[in-house]
Amino acid sequence: MRQLIAGNWKMNGLAANLGELAALKAGLDNQEGDPDCDVLICPPATLIAQAAWAVKGAFALGGQDCSAKPSGAFTGDISAQMLKDAGAAFVILGHSERRQIHGERDADIAAKVEAAWAAGLTAIICIGESGDEREAGRAHAICLGQIGGSVPKTANAANTAIAYEPVWAIGTGKTPTLEEITAMHAHLHGCLVEKLGEAGRAIRLLYGGSVNPKNARDILNLDGVDGALVGGASLKASDFLAIIGAVKQP
Ligand code: PGA
Repeated sequence: MRQLIAGNWKMNGLAANLGELAALKAGLDNQEGDPDCDVLICPPATLIAQAAWAVKGAFALGGQDCSAKPSGAFTGDISAQMLKDAGAAFVILGHSERRQIHGERDADIAAKVEAAWAAGLTAIICIGESGDEREAGRAHAICLGQIGGSVPKTANAANTAIAYEPVWAIGTGKTPTLEEITAMHAHLHGCLVEKLGEAGRAIRLLYGGSVNPKNARDILNLDGVDGALVGGASLKASDFLAIIGAVKQP
């Protein structure tokens, strides 16, 4: 499966930081041939239109959240169609920071996924257990429940990717062991096939949580890992290019 390397800038980035995207474009342009993976950056929504102009299709752009509603009196919210209009092809939904800070529940996320699809965006649906849940031996059950509640039944490889992001690994420098990642990805691929049938088999399953240039090769070469969702290390073009350079070779 062709891997997807996705960067999540979170609430970081001003116009002055667009130079990192230009550097990423230059780095990709300088490589011999096309990268062996799909590349995506999700900057703050305020930068998507300028980024689209700057990167000229060298890689894809995405949003970090969208409203479940198509338009209307929802002050401060951004619709999926607005993201698309600005130049996005993807949107991250159900990130643990949205679940925790904004109280988003599985049903809210599923509604946002439907809205993203209606606007022609591919949804990256995030799931993952907390540290306490893992310690209690509930990690697999928690992720199964999140897939059950936040992934609509018509998900397929074209409209959806899933990101497994253990909450305790996000921004902490800690990661699960390679064995734990392999076991979780096998479990989640099984959950997707059980829920969606054959369509579930082709859905890309990304790993996220403290991926960096040092650990990327080991993680990206694991069975069942179809890419990475990268936070901190996506902010610098040189780090992100190093991660792109670590993808599984076809
Ligand atoms: P991190 O963030 O790579 O900084 O741990 C990952 C994410 O939140 O998507």
